[in-house]
Amino acid sequence: MFSAKTYVSRRERLACLMPDSLLLFLGNDIAPFNYPSNDYRFRQDSTFLYLFGLDTPGLAAIIDTANGTSTLFADDVSMEDIVWTGPMPSAEERAALVGIDRAMPFKALAEVVNRALSAGRKVHYVPPYRGETVIRFAELLGIKPAQVVPSASESLIRALVSLRIVKEQCEIDDLDKQMVFANNIHTAAMRLAHEGVSENDIMSRVQYESMMGGGAVSFPPICTIHGETLHNHGYIHDLQNGKLLLVDAGCESPNHYATDNTRTTPVGGRFTTRQKEIYDIVLAANEAVIANSAPGVFYKDMHLLANRVMIEGLKAIGLMTGDTDAALNAGAVGLFMPHGIGHNLGLDVHDMENYGEDIVGYDDETGPRVNQLGLGSLRMAKRLVAGNVVTDEPGIYFIPELIDRWRAAGHCAEFINFQRLESYKDFGGIRIEDEILITEKGCRLVGEKRIPVTTAEVEAEALKGRTQERDILTQ
Ligand code: GLY
Repeated sequence: MFSAKTYVSRRERLACLMPDSLLLFLGNDIAPFNYPSNDYRFRQDSTFLYLFGLDTPGLAAIIDTANGTSTLFADDVSMEDIVWTGPMPSAEERAALVGIDRAMPFKALAEVVNRALSAGRKVHYVPPYRGETVIRFAELLGIKPAQVVPSASESLIRALVSLRIVKEQCEIDDLDKQMVFANNIHTAAMRLAHEGVSENDIMSRVQYESMMGGGAVSFPPICTIHGETLHNHGYIHDLQNGKLLLVDAGCESPNHYATDNTRTTPVGGRFTTRQKEIYDIVLAANEAVIANSAPGVFYKDMHLLANRVMIEGLKAIGLMTGDTDAALNAGAVGLFMPHGIGHNLGLDVHDMENYGEDIVGYDDETGPRVNQLGLGSLRMAKRLVAGNVVTDEPGIYFIPELIDRWRAAGHCAEFINFQRLESYKDFGGIRIEDEILITEKGCRLVGEKRIPVTTAEVEAEALKGRTQERDILTQ
């Protein structure tokens, strides 16, 4: 948790943006896994964490900006709670930890909301994403569950996005520090990338290194020799020489700030010439984004820049052809990179996307999202400002079914050498993902030390594992 001052200041800044308003926040509750008392690891709601810092279930809060009060709704623990889950500070004491001077029992929440509604006040809230929270809002507000998400407050969402999208120094410090553990995750995976090891073995190491960072994984990791499947959570394959292992994984800091990085390692520790050619195109795209991201630049333009670098690279090896601008405008590179260049990162790995992707990443200046494979999946298109933290994650994938479909339809046939592509259908995919912080003049990578990224660095790390990591795993 940060200091009480941090949370007080966030609530004060929010109050300035939402004058004369009643703002209702529900924390997350424990979620049962397969029977009521066997639950998933608790994860507090990120909006609640941002404003109130308290990381336990059973909490709600109201900020009334008409009279400048914040109230925590929480129950003191009973003797039964103490027996099963341990002692806990009183509700007042927990409120005081984050600079709130009023605490009320949880059951008082319904009455307070009811009084506000009866007085004709609008109750502002952000859209819930869990079924039980939807039901709780429906009960509190006296509306149908189906009306809860559509009735969320756009003005509150916009106010929170404007605050959370610019990271404070304490958040940047947290994100920087956590990159040590992100580095450990990815270097361990590189060292394990040898025949005789399975995707599941590597996953267990990803989980271990994440927990060593004081939290857990920040999203279900992607750890696969089929990197061409973008969200592959199977972990069912054994590694084979000649394949590429793609690991997209991150961990949460104890304060729940997320890391999110991807590295691609040749199984056995040596890239083939063909793999190296594609890898270097992806790396060039990644580095073009780092070299050009700065305040005032639209991140959508960084997506297009990365795509341009990729088109030039793919033309150089005979997989694309024709005029680069025309190929870019036609969206031809979507065949190879059917996703966006990046997203915001913070308390959530896709920061604030529970508020709605477009309200976070698009505005009047960007115009609406483009309906094109690749660019259409771009989550952050906005003009960058100092304090933004975004991912930079270009990739090139060879998806046999997509190649077949485009070829059969003649889609972008003037830009793509489909015949040559046939021999790439078992290639897999390569993604390289770093996190960048926008600074006053440009940008820098999050963390002190970059995860090995050039082909030589990745090979060197993987080859270390031939003697060390595999022995540990097979002992
Ligand atoms: N890195 C995982 C994702 O962006 O969905």
